Formats: sequence, C-alpha cells, structure tokens
Amino acid sequence: MEAAWFESWFNSPYYHILYQHRDDREAELFIDHLYTHLKIVKDHSILDLACGAGRHSIYMASKGNSVTGIDLASNSIEEVKSKAIEKGISEKLQFQVEDMRDFELNTKFDFILNLFTSFGYFETKAENESVLNYAKNHLNENGILVIDYLNSQLVRANGEESYTKTISGIDFTIKKYFDRDFVIKEIEVNDQGKISIFREQVQLFELKEIQTMLENLGFQVLNHFGDYQLGEYKTNSPRSIVVARLV
Ligand SMILES: C[S@@+](CC[C@H](N)C(=O)[O-])C[C@H]1O[C@@H](n2cnc3c(N)ncnc32)[C@H](O)[C@@H]1O
Repeated sequence: MEAAWFESWFNSPYYHILYQHRDDREAELFIDHLYTHLKIVKDHSILDLACGAGRHSIYMASKGNSVTGIDLASNSIEEVKSKAIEKGISEKLQFQVEDMRDFELNTKFDFILNLFTSFGYFETKAENESVLNYAKNHLNENGILVIDYLNSQLVRANGEESYTKTISGIDFTIKKYFDRDFVIKEIEVNDQGKISIFREQVQLFELKEIQTMLENLGFQVLNHFGDYQLGEYKTNSPRSIVVARLV
C-alpha cells in the first residue's frame, strides 16, 4: 500500500530543509513562555506528542524535566536520539516511533504538548479525535494538554497561492489550495534535477470544533493564545494555541 502523505513527507530530509526556519530558537522561546504560564517545574513529566526532530524535547530535558517524545518519522527519532547523546542529556529523554492515533506508553504525564501544527492530518474526524483520546489516556488527573495549531481563519484569509522557494540550492515549488475543509500544499522538490513530489494536508478546524472535541473527552479549555509569546488570540494571529485541563 502507498504510504500516507504524512509518512513520506515528514520522514524526508526535504521537510527539515523547507522548515529550517522553525528552529531551536523559536522552540526555546515558546517553551520558556509555556513554562512560566503553566508553572512547569523540574518534577513535572512531559510528553512531546509528534516531537519531530525534538527541538522542544531537548530543550525541556536540558531544563531538568523527564521528557518522552513520540513521532511516526523514524528518521527524526533516530536524529533526536543522537542529539540527546551528544548533549549528554539522554537519561532525561525517551524517544519512540509511535502513531499518535493509537499508542500505549504505560505511563501518564503531567503535561502533553502537541506543537507546531501536529494535528488535523487525517482523513476522518474519528482519527483526529483518537489523537486527543490517546492524549487523555496518558494524562494525570488535572494534567494539561497544549495544542499549538495553525490559525485556520488566517490560513483561509490568505487564500490560495503558488510560489517557488530556493533553499540550499534546492527548489521547492509549492501550490497551496483548499479542498473540502482541508488546506493542501503540493510540494515539488527539484534537487539538482531530481524531482520528488510531496503533499501536506491539514484540516482547518475552528477553535469551537477543537473545543467541542476536547470537552466531549472531559477537558476544560483554559486559554486560547495567538502566538509563541502567548499573546491574546486575534483573527490575524500567526497561531491558534489551546491550553486544556483534564478535569
Ligand atoms: C509539523 S511537524 C512538527 C514536529 C515538532 N513538533 C516540531 O515542532 O518541530 C509534525 C510532526 O508530526 C509527525 N506525525 C505525523 N503523523 C503522525 C502520526 N500519525 N503519529 C505520530 N506522529 C506523526 C510528523 O512525523 C512530524 O514530525
């Protein structure tokens, strides 16, 4: 069977090249704001749900927390394991290849962070709800779930577009369009004449829909922020960040 778009794109080196501006500095700034707002201390355990190459996990472990990171992309998990060893903080970190729609880690966490639009990838509502349900099963009582998601109002307002970006000598030609309630990016990569085609697809949920899914599972939404400084959400905010408590 052909791999789903999210299996091939995120496991390719080109994803990391195209999004290289989403770097450690951005991750560390956001984590610092979350630690202050959520009063996260060293004793708290944290699950980085869809951790990617671990830019948030590594920083949180360097602050003294025990962090588990799971992701479907085996290349990212290999990379972050090596990074943790290099930095001498591997005893604080655990990484595993898992599918966030169906995972069992046999432990519970104080905080679960789902960061940088790692939600809304799947064809069915049931699959997206399943991600939240498995998060719930891995949270301690009163545990906190953070979903850092795109601002669908801004994405819709920006409309469809096509453009080419050249990074490190590689051309990325991107066609962004809407289909049903998904925003889709078709990505053609031209690496010295070698062409590869990828896709990115995110369902455009409004806050109300995410809130309803969370409330149906027993969460209470505490905050809705619009950026990594945790500024108030506005229709043109760069992000839509939901903080919910399991009650
Ligand atoms: C936009 S990236 C964000 C990665 C990381 N949180 C960051 O901020 O750098 C989305 C991540 O979701 C992961 N992902 C996609 N589908 C997944 C699934 N079904 N289960 C677990 N992880 C998945 C991808 O492999 C990718 O690493």
